[in-house]
Parts: sequence; structure tokens; C-alpha cells
Amino acid sequence: MKTTGNTILITGGTSGIGLAFAEEFLSLGNTVIICGRRKERLAEIAQKHKEIVTQVCDVAEASDRENLASWVISNYPNVNVLINNAGLQLLTDLTKPVDLNRVNSEINTNVTAPIHLTSLFAQHFSAKKEAAIINISSGLAFVPIAFMPVYCATKAAIHSITLSLRHQLKNTAVKVFEIAPPAVDTELGSDRRADKTQSHGGMPVADFLAEAMDAIKTDKLMAPIAMAKNSYENREAMFDFMNRN
Ligand SMILES: NC(=O)c1ccc[n+]([C@@H]2O[C@H](COP(=O)([O-])OP(=O)(O)OC[C@H]3O[C@@H](n4cnc5c(N)ncnc54)[C@H](OP(=O)(O)O)[C@@H]3O)[C@@H](O)[C@H]2O)c1
Repeated sequence: MKTTGNTILITGGTSGIGLAFAEEFLSLGNTVIICGRRKERLAEIAQKHKEIVTQVCDVAEASDRENLASWVISNYPNVNVLINNAGLQLLTDLTKPVDLNRVNSEINTNVTAPIHLTSLFAQHFSAKKEAAIINISSGLAFVPIAFMPVYCATKAAIHSITLSLRHQLKNTAVKVFEIAPPAVDTELGSDRRADKTQSHGGMPVADFLAEAMDAIKTDKLMAPIAMAKNSYENREAMFDFMNRN
């Protein structure tokens, strides 16, 4: 897709991959709207980048998603790109009764939100000459790490939904991308790290971004990045490797 002159809504733009996309697309001459739950973070980002539009939104809440979509469409009718990026990663032990509120929050954030937001923008995008929906899945969509089974299942669902969405939009100009990151060094899972400054490992965000932007520019609609390629291509064979500990 063209990477300039778009109006782009990125969910979860307050850190990590979403913030990196926001800064990159801004530098390429796009109008960028980001959302997240952390008001202070959004204010800091708006202070640093005056042109980035920010909205507080909890994408796990249906009413927040509806308000966000109608606010964006009425204030930024040129909106033509949605990046479904906001994500939550939790550990879940399936051998004991689970806390359903936790499970639902992970499913609502990672699956229900992209489904609902996509459906709220699809008709608006279908009337555009150029538009795109970019779903951020994961290498874990193809090979689960067993200590975060719900997270991995939500990402497998995003892969499946992306295939169906691409089919449903095939007679429109809307391009449907899936970017599957490998482990990337962001704040993901930082709530379970005692030292918040500690890195969770993974590839540097800048390296991930370069490969992901290349996929977007060259219309590589299914884009597993770096290590995630292995998981995508060699699913079953990777399971023992991924779960070797
Ligand atoms: N980093 C990795 O290793 C990796 C690997 C594969 C896939 N991914 C995927 O990449 C995406 C971005 O994650 P990241 O690595 O950049 O992690 P991150 O630094 O923790 O960023 C997550 C973003 O999602 C937002 N978010 C979470 N829950 C939200 C909610 N209910 N409503 C609105 N925003 C919400 C957060 O904003 P607030 O906290 O301000 O709400 C934050 O901006 C996720 O979908 C993740 O699953 C990451």
C-alpha cells in the first residue's frame, strides 16, 4: 500500500509496536490517530508529537469501541487505515480453575476488539479508493507456548479472521494485512516483571519495524517477521522447540 497521505487509526499506540508504527507513519506524511487506556502516556506522546491525535479508549469495552469509531469517522472522514494492534498477554494455568474475568479481558482485547472495530470501519473503508486493515497477530498464532495458552489462541483466531476478512473484502480496494511479530522488545508482559526496566528480550523494535514496513510497502499481505517465519512455515515441528523448557 502507499505509505504516505493516509489517515491511520492505531489501537494501542502508547508503547511498543503501536507507538513505533505511529512515529514512522507520522514521519512519512500520514495523519495518525492513536488510542490506549493510559491518559498520561497519551498526553506525553501528544506533547512530543503535536500532530499525533490521541484518544483515551479501552478497546476491551464495546461502548468505547463504538464511541472511538464514530468519533474518528466524523472528525477524520478520510480515515482509510486501521491497525488492530492493542494486545494483552497473560499467563494462564489451565490445570486449575481460571479467573474468567482475566480470560475474558484477554479475549476481548485481542480478538473481540479487532473483530468489532473492523466491522465498524469496513463499510467506510469499502467506499475508499485505497484502504487497509492491518492485523497484528504473532508467531505464537502458529505454534503455542504452553504457559500462555489463551494468548496464543487469541492470535490463532486473528490469523483465521484475517483470512476470512480478506476473502469478504476481495471485491473492494481494502487490503487486508497480517503482520506476525516474533518476540519483540516492548512492554508486553511487563506487568509480570518485578523490575519494569528489565527487557523482555526479543528483537529490537526498530528492526521489527523495518521489516514490517517493508511488507506493508510491498503489499506482502501475510508477513511473518524474522523468527515468526519458522513458526508459520514449520508449525508442528516447532512445538517441541518452543516448549523445550
Ligand atoms: N512484543 C512481542 O514480543 C510481540 C510478539 C508478537 C505479537 N505482539 C503483538 O503486538 C501488539 C503490540 O504489543 P507490544 O509488544 O507493542 O506491547 P506493549 O508495548 O505492551 O503495547 C501494547 C499496547 O496495547 C495497548 N492496550 C492493551 N490493552 C488495551 C486496551 N484494553 N485498550 C486499549 N489499548 C490497549 C497498550 O496501551 P495502554 O496500556 O495505554 O492501554 C499498549 O499501547 C500486541 O497485539 C501483541 O500481542 C507482540
